[in-house]
Amino acid sequence: MKERPTLETARLVLRPFSLADAPDVQRLAGDRDVASTTNLPHPYEDGMAEAWIGAHQVRFERGEFVSFAIVLRAGHSLIGTIGLRIKPHHPSGELGYWIGKPFWNQGHCTEAAQAVVDYAFEVLQLNRVHAEYLTRNPASARVLEKVGMTYEGCRRQHVKKWGVLEDLGLYGILRSDWAR
Ligand SMILES: CC(C)(COP(=O)(O)OP(=O)(O)OC[C@H]1O[C@@H](n2cnc3c(N)ncnc32)[C@H](O)[C@@H]1OP(=O)(O)O)[C@@H](O)C(=O)NCCC(=O)NCCS
Repeated sequence: MKERPTLETARLVLRPFSLADAPDVQRLAGDRDVASTTNLPHPYEDGMAEAWIGAHQVRFERGEFVSFAIVLRAGHSLIGTIGLRIKPHHPSGELGYWIGKPFWNQGHCTEAAQAVVDYAFEVLQLNRVHAEYLTRNPASARVLEKVGMTYEGCRRQHVKKWGVLEDLGLYGILRSDWAR
């Protein structure tokens, strides 16, 4: 079995999920305000977290996905998740994340995203990391700017969320930008 990575930052440990995390994932991801700007199902029902976590190892071994539980160094609370969907042939990765609402606006997502972007270029040797966000979610755009990504445009009415057509904003960073 290939070992999944753990990354450390000043305040956070980004580690593989285990099934023991499922109740925390269900509680935090179950918040309507977290689901509202993501692809998370809502309501977040029993068994969904276990199914999601249970697929991580095989998706990592296929080289298509790496995900991290974001845990506070102080107290070890799980506060969110961040992951990369990898396209090895391009080679690029799409960043996705959520942070539990009690932990918003304390710089946690930015700190985790910077570590994962560094991991994508240093360890995975990707050429590009990108992310999409609903344009009504400026906090996510701000995270992507703070890790050095460039705004690449807007796909108008590209997705339907809870019955409403929404614009998707795009950000990306190339290896050459990151190396600078
Ligand atoms: C988006 C999200 C991950 C941000 O996590 P976080 O840990 O709060 O992010 P950070 O604290 O690192 O940075 C947030 C930045 O957005 C800013 N921000 C927050 N709300 C904002 C708003 N309404 N308008 C503009 N900026 C805003 C904060 O001030 C901060 O920027 P600053 O450091 O320049 O002050 C979190 O809000 C979340 O999980 N939301 C629900 C799920 C989600 O949207 N996931 C992303 C899908 S693309």
